[in-house]
Amino acid sequence: MAILITGGAGYIGSHTCVELLNTGYEIVVLDNFINSKPEVIKRITEITGCTFKFYNHDLLDKKSLEQVFLENDIEAVIHFAGLKAVGESVDLPLQYYYNNITSTLVLCETLQKYDVKKLVFSSSATVYGLPERFPISEDSPLRALNPYGRTKLMIEEILQDLYVSDKNWSISILRYFNPIGAHGSGQIGEDPNGVPNNLMPYIAQVAIGKLKELNVFGNQYATKDGTGVRDYIHVVDLALGHLRALEKNTYSKGVEVYNLGTGKGYSVLEMISAFEEASGKKIPYKVVDSRPGDVAVCYADPLKAEKDLGWIAKKGIDEMCVDAWRWQTKNPYGYEINQEIKSPYFIKSEDFLIRNKY
Ligand code: WQD
Repeated sequence: MAILITGGAGYIGSHTCVELLNTGYEIVVLDNFINSKPEVIKRITEITGCTFKFYNHDLLDKKSLEQVFLENDIEAVIHFAGLKAVGESVDLPLQYYYNNITSTLVLCETLQKYDVKKLVFSSSATVYGLPERFPISEDSPLRALNPYGRTKLMIEEILQDLYVSDKNWSISILRYFNPIGAHGSGQIGEDPNGVPNNLMPYIAQVAIGKLKELNVFGNQYATKDGTGVRDYIHVVDLALGHLRALEKNTYSKGVEVYNLGTGKGYSVLEMISAFEEASGKKIPYKVVDSRPGDVAVCYADPLKAEKDLGWIAKKGIDEMCVDAWRWQTKNPYGYEINQEIKSPYFIKSEDFLIRNKY
């Protein structure tokens, strides 16, 4: 019996694959490389010493998705695959709605057909929009403010309706706060396409000299130093949260939502200092206008995940910065691009055109 990981070559997906393999799970990975590189598959095997089947397929291609279920005994799915850039979603809403929602519908129809009804879904704190009270608990008001966040919210509602129609489903919806850092080996990490949108990879690229200086998006917020406050969580802690949710799905049916955060908020200036400490590098920055759509403060109440899943984030901000820096220094240009994996486990769908940006 294997766990299917859609988007398993991505930042959080790859870290989750490592933890699953290290825990003894058999996994099957599917990814279209729109936001990842083939090299990641090799790195996962290097870290764990485990081989696994990889399908270079697109979830929108139902025929090739069925091939995965015909060729493997899938017992559960962790669904990461999806477009995830907030700013890009504002420019390309139709692409985001079509890709994220249709691919999830194709996946769920296929799961139903093959009677696989254990699902962990990758959602986001973006569904909370402008939070009114802190820390943010799972019953806080939901009001996504951008197409990306709305795709996550719509998919959450689709999954709730799916359970109402068939009580055999076991679904965990995980709302991530701000994942940063990298596996301690420095072999896998965050490798954004182009100029990073998110704070940590941008800081790391300034530290390594790829980017000149950080633009701090506003310092007039009602926070300790005027800059935005977020709940940064180590990507390995986040990955382990998926294993706890998967375990829970084996013995309980229904749909449950969990915030995966540390419950602590750090400002942009605090993150700059923490990274300077971890890297020994000065991070030049200049304060510019606040970014449209940004909220001042966002941090989790993670108590429900602790109570229900026995999960708690253990790694602190210093370890997050040290691990992010190790990844960046070991991989100054991220993963090798266009690397062809020559392995019997690397299965390309005949008619699948790789829609990658690089
Ligand atoms: C963090 C803080 C910025 C970049 C986003 C998505 C969310 C999730 C995580 C997918 C903010 C400031 C940032 C920069 C800056 N992704 N900043 N200069 O916006 O909290 O969340 O990523 O699920 O859905 O919305 O993360 O890293 O972009 O910003 O000053 O160059 O850093 O203003 O205060 P965000 P972020």
